[in-house]
Amino acid sequence: MKAIELNNIRKTFGARLALDVETLAIDGGRMVAVIGPSGAGKSTLMRHISGLVTSDRGTRGSIRVHDELIQSNGRLSRSIRRLRAEIGVVFQQFNLVGRLTLLQNVLIGTLSRTPFYRRWSRSFTHAEKCEAMRALDFVGMSEFAAQRASTLSGGQQQRGAVARAIVQRARVVLADEPIASLDPESARVVMQRLRDMNQSDGVTVLVSVHQIDYASRYCDDVVAMRDGRILDVCPADRLDLDKLKAIYGERFEAMQAEYLAPAPVRADEAASADELKHLDIEARLND
Ligand SMILES: Nc1ncnc2c1ncn2[C@@H]1O[C@H](COP(=O)(O)OP(=O)(O)OP(=O)(O)O)[C@@H](O)[C@H]1O
Ligand SMILES: [Mg+2]
Repeated sequence: MKAIELNNIRKTFGARLALDVETLAIDGGRMVAVIGPSGAGKSTLMRHISGLVTSDRGTRGSIRVHDELIQSNGRLSRSIRRLRAEIGVVFQQFNLVGRLTLLQNVLIGTLSRTPFYRRWSRSFTHAEKCEAMRALDFVGMSEFAAQRASTLSGGQQQRGAVARAIVQRARVVLADEPIASLDPESARVVMQRLRDMNQSDGVTVLVSVHQIDYASRYCDDVVAMRDGRILDVCPADRLDLDKLKAIYGERFEAMQAEYLAPAPVRADEAASADELKHLDIEARLND
């Protein structure tokens, strides 16, 4: 079964064609980078998959996540609320709720699997709070748990959003430029934690990055976009200079200088077995 499937998805804003995808199929358990120059349609693609944007009507296009229809022919599925619970999002613009504390934001991740009556009473169980704290610990943010999200830096918010996706136990995570404007160390933590979720929990991750270096270091495959179209889908280790030039065109050299700060390497990159045990990954896989 494919984790994500798009067929015939077109989206126009006014006269501009923002997305034009004949087919895209992503296998479960892969970590896939979406690359392409600014305006290529990366964010538009992710917003379609999460059901935040609907495609043009009349094209009979469809998007499925784990075989369930998210949208078809420009209309959202009736089950969209339930389906969204399976999709974790780490989006730059609307990441966390500013007036809530970081911990409360992470706890929001549990709501999708909370019984209806408790959702309204807004009480979280001790176990949920512990899980949220462990997730914050995992992304190196536990000391900020009580701080209002609006007062956190961009990078701290991104990490909080990753913690929320962990607590949500999402099967698919869409991360739109989760490391844009982060310092190399924060970028490394965010990418590595996404990779940990992917490898230890089998979560399918779709992540857009401008830094090609991070795409090839952390991801299995790369989806290359330009002008709303998918130019290529290939294993991350087969990205070569010619391909990159085809994707980025004349702007490639300039872009390289702009974004290609090398990803720092660390010996302890993968989460330790202890850290993963901490997250109850086994229990999660069994439930
Ligand atoms: N709500 C909107 N209204 C009008 N045009 C839009 C809207 N959203 C996206 N677009 C246009 O669609 C195209 C694709 O935009 P998108 O944000 O998906 O690009 P991107 O690949 O994410 O770029 P970046 O790397 O700069 O984030 C752009 O030309 C953009 O101007
Ligand atoms: Mg974007």
